[in-house]
Amino acid sequence: MTSLLTLHRLRKRFGERILFDIEALAIEAATAYVLTGRNGAGKSTLLRILAGLERAEVEQAHFLGQPVSWHPYAAAMRDAVVYVHQHPVMFSTSVAANIGYGLKARGLPKRAIATRVEQAMQWADVVHLRDSKPDSLSGGEKQRVALARAKVLAPRLLLLDEPTANLDGAAREKVIELIPGLVGEGSSIIIACHDRDLIGLHGMQRLKLRDGHLEYRTARPILKNAKL
Ligand SMILES: Nc1ncnc2c1ncn2[C@@H]1O[C@H](COP(=O)(O)OP(=O)(O)OP(=O)(O)O)[C@@H](O)[C@H]1O
Ligand SMILES: [Mg+2]
Repeated sequence: MTSLLTLHRLRKRFGERILFDIEALAIEAATAYVLTGRNGAGKSTLLRILAGLERAEVEQAHFLGQPVSWHPYAAAMRDAVVYVHQHPVMFSTSVAANIGYGLKARGLPKRAIATRVEQAMQWADVVHLRDSKPDSLSGGEKQRVALARAKVLAPRLLLLDEPTANLDGAAREKVIELIPGLVGEGSSIIIACHDRDLIGLHGMQRLKLRDGHLEYRTARPILKNAKL
C-alpha cells in the first residue's frame, strides 16, 4: 500500500459552528472510496477542501509521502487532484472541446489532445455527441462527459460529488459502470454519495462522516501506513 494523501487534524468551521474535526484522513494510492453521511454532514465541503477550493484548518499534510503546504494549496496537488461537481459546469462549445479543455490549458500539443479526447469519448460512450452543445445533453450524458473530462487529466485523486444523484435507470447504471475505470495504478477516487449500488461496488473502501468525525468502515486498518 502506498499512501497518496494524509491529513492530520483537519477541522472545518463555519463561524462558531464546527462542521467536522477529523483526527486523521488517510487516502491510499490506487484505491476507491465512498464517502457517506446524512444530508448536511459535510461530504461536499470535505471534497471541496481536498480539492483546494475551500479553506480549512489542517495541521499537517503529506502528498505522495512528501510534506506539503495546505495554505496555499500545494502546486504538486493542483494538477493532481480533480473535483467533479454534482452539476458539472460546461462551456457552450462542444463536447469534444470541453473534454479537451484541461489538456489545452496544460499546454499539450494539439495532436496529443485529439488522441486523448478520442480515447476518453470512447471510454464514456459519448463519441456520437462530439459536436453537440453541452446544454443539449441529458443529465446522464452530461455526467459521462464530465467523467471523461476528468479522466483525460489522469488525476492522482479524483473527487466525485454524487455522480448518480439525479439519474435514474439506464443512465445511472451507465455512470456506475464507468467508475471502476477511474481507479488505476496511480489514481484513487473518493465518491460522495447515497447510492447503494455505488457503495456496494467491488473493492470500495468506506468513509463515513458522522457527528463531525470521520469513520473508516473497512475490514483492514487503512491507517497503518499513514505518515502522520
Ligand atoms: N458557506 C457556508 N457557510 C455556512 N455554512 C455552510 C456553508 N457551506 C456549507 N455550509 C453548511 O455545512 C453543512 C454541510 O454542507 P455540505 O453541503 O458539505 O453537506 P453534504 O454532506 O454534502 O450534504 P448533502 O448530502 O445534502 O449533499 C450544511 O449544514 C451547510 O448548510
Ligand atoms: Mg453534498
